[in-house]
Amino acid sequence: MASLPDTNLRPKTWSEYVGQEQLKGNLDVIIKAARKRGEPLEHLLFYGNSGLGKTTMAHVIANETGAKVTTCAGPQLERVGDIASLLTNLEEGSILFLDECHRIHKSVTEMLYSAMEDYTLHLVIGKGPMARTMDIQLPRFTLIGATTKLQLLSSPFRNRFGATFQFNFYELQHIEQILERSSGILAVQLDPVARRQIAERSRLTPRVANRLLKRVRDFATIKGSSIITPEITEHAFAFLGIDKLGLEKGDRKILSTIVTRFRGGPVGAQSLAAACSEEEEAVLEVYEPFLIQQGLIERTQRGRVATPSAYRHLGLKLPNPELI
Ligand SMILES: Nc1ncnc2c1ncn2[C@@H]1O[C@H](COP(=O)(O)OP(=O)(O)OP(=O)(O)O)[C@@H](O)[C@H]1O
Ligand SMILES: [Mg+2]
Repeated sequence: MASLPDTNLRPKTWSEYVGQEQLKGNLDVIIKAARKRGEPLEHLLFYGNSGLGKTTMAHVIANETGAKVTTCAGPQLERVGDIASLLTNLEEGSILFLDECHRIHKSVTEMLYSAMEDYTLHLVIGKGPMARTMDIQLPRFTLIGATTKLQLLSSPFRNRFGATFQFNFYELQHIEQILERSSGILAVQLDPVARRQIAERSRLTPRVANRLLKRVRDFATIKGSSIITPEITEHAFAFLGIDKLGLEKGDRKILSTIVTRFRGGPVGAQSLAAACSEEEEAVLEVYEPFLIQQGLIERTQRGRVATPSAYRHLGLKLPNPELI
């Protein structure tokens, strides 16, 4: 779900795509081997949190391999006819990028099985005893599926991908490189200290980093400064209520609710969401992954537990460390 203003910041080439080194290394082998054999690229499945570069990578691959890319999001494929016309219109060697592929309708997903496996579309025409099947040969294409919810994909669907890649949170230095590139594109100077301050609050996610950069740039513009200085950055973050770890009001509410209302946990996602007036999905997808990554909460079999770091971050005293 990339927002429109991100488009010009989105890297187009392999070298512009910063970070995810291991994933890039593995993909490089797959791409080179397919090219050497003169075969279409295997179907690839990308999963990981929002904003970590899945859509970007799909387009980079298309750009690097010279393949034409057709994009579609899962919820757009409601009927069997939708996927049939999409697949029959593909060109040989092209890429079909299916975003949010956990949200494709079951009957449509089932049609994808044979399409992925042997480039054939099994169509059932008519109903009841008069029904007959028709096989349509498809061009050899590559499906790149992207999802934030791998666990919602059926295993026959998952198994038909030649390789699955997890997108991880970025290293700080890579976020800094992304910010450097983005500030160039946005034609604003970024002081190295300010760059570090923004990177530290980016939740190690490129989309967040770019968003924060734009927000801080607004403050610089209003001040009439062509340089983003550490002072401007600090002022902007104080104003926006973004703390040193990049946590916003909503994140801190999750943490403080676990600590105060549930005495540090364990608490289930549903109860936590209700106590914070949030959707359970938002707790699971938006807030929790980064809080876990930062070691502020842990997921146990009985629910979420606040760690000692959470108490420290909130400036609260640990009740009894042995209980946590
Ligand atoms: N490796 C990268 N190097 C530089 N910029 C990146 C990188 N990955 C992502 N970005 C930036 O972050 C933005 C978000 O990335 P992208 O849209 O690819 O994320 P996504 O994983 O597809 O997210 P969602 O699950 O929400 O669709 C991009 O528009 C781009 O500007
Ligand atoms: Mg995307």
